[in-house]
Amino acid sequence: MKPAFVFGTRPEIIKLAPVIRAFEERGVKPLLIHTGQHYDYEMSRVFLEELELDGIDYHLEVGSGTQAEQTGTAMIKIERVLMDERPDVTLVQGDTNTVLAGAIASVKLKIPVAHVEAGLRSFDRTMPEEINRILADHASEVLFAPTEEARRNLEREGITENVYVVGNTVVDAVLQNAEIAEKKSDILERFGLKPKEYVLITAHRAENTDSRENLTKFVEILEALPIKAIYPMHPRTRNRLKEFGLWKRISSIENLIITKPLGYLDFLKLEKNAFAIMTDSGGIQEESIILNVPCLTLRYNTERPETVTAGGNVLVGLEKERALGYLQRLLKDGEFYRKMAEAPNPFGDGRAGERIAQILLELHEKGELKVRS
Ligand code: UD1
Ligand code: UDP
Repeated sequence: MKPAFVFGTRPEIIKLAPVIRAFEERGVKPLLIHTGQHYDYEMSRVFLEELELDGIDYHLEVGSGTQAEQTGTAMIKIERVLMDERPDVTLVQGDTNTVLAGAIASVKLKIPVAHVEAGLRSFDRTMPEEINRILADHASEVLFAPTEEARRNLEREGITENVYVVGNTVVDAVLQNAEIAEKKSDILERFGLKPKEYVLITAHRAENTDSRENLTKFVEILEALPIKAIYPMHPRTRNRLKEFGLWKRISSIENLIITKPLGYLDFLKLEKNAFAIMTDSGGIQEESIILNVPCLTLRYNTERPETVTAGGNVLVGLEKERALGYLQRLLKDGEFYRKMAEAPNPFGDGRAGERIAQILLELHEKGELKVRS
């Protein structure tokens, strides 16, 4: 069997690595296609190195651009590779432009698409990711939903065939790397941080960074933080802060360390040892509940509502009073802190990658891995 993996951004590399590994353990060598949506060393190569994905077959060097430029260029380049290689299935993960491009290019060549992390919905159609998720799910033949809730979202849209609830491969990634990170990374020493005495910040979502008003609200939250913080900054946010004249303001916040994006091992160690995490990232909402760290999400909705229901995540949006109110409560109320930190992980047991490989191998063997007419 010949599976092709199409990926291009940091979270896709991290979350597909366990699936690639599971195929390799079953004696199958997957075809690896990197679109190059992320291209800086610290947004891409560092993960390929740390996760030992050294055998990329195609680097498509799509790079940045408008939504259509990036998606369209990726689609054209992916199509060429798929036409030459004719894999048995194309795997995509998540909701980026790379995912949409890979799914559409593949299904139109009648190569079935398997969507890892299918069925997530924020129900906010102004997010590029929501459009990508919906379209990718509807272009897919096999859907790997991380949770029952995701499966129900698919069912509501009429997608009921070949849907498998397997857990989220983020758990596999965390379990495979957290211990290595704890031993190998010296990130706390490098930044003079003590366990549970700092907050970890990340933000890169378009709705938070592309508007001056929202980015200013974000900076105002950081200015009022009552505790030391570290922020490994996504290049998108760095660019926008400079463009909107907010760079000087954010970089002069006294108890805030701003650094380049970090490798996975350093980042995992920072997450695990954080007092709390404030983020607008999807993957980091998941990792915080897996690592038992309270999460305050700088958004008004989430496609990971399981984290909120479980009690490990609160949506604080960009409301300063609300965000700081929760942070103060976590600092002062030990019982409240314990409850959030001990919220149960809703994303499975860390064997999602194995299940995905196994299911696809079995479907292929039975001749059922094909685009239905
Ligand atoms: C993309 C995904 C988002 C995901 C995120 C993971 C889409 C629509 N968005 O957002 O869902 O959460 O990746 O991090 O697919 N840039 C660099 N170097 C890089 C990559 C990007 O400088 O290596 C800068 C460029 O100025 C670029 C901007 O970041 O224009 C945005 O990059 P892009 O890939 O378009 O979107 P992300 O914000 O990374
Ligand atoms: N991550 C990392 N270094 C960083 C920031 C994030 O390794 O400096 C990892 C993080 O552990 C998670 C993933 O990148 O696995 C999340 O990526 P991101 O927030 O960019 O995307 P999203 O999950 O929102 O799509």
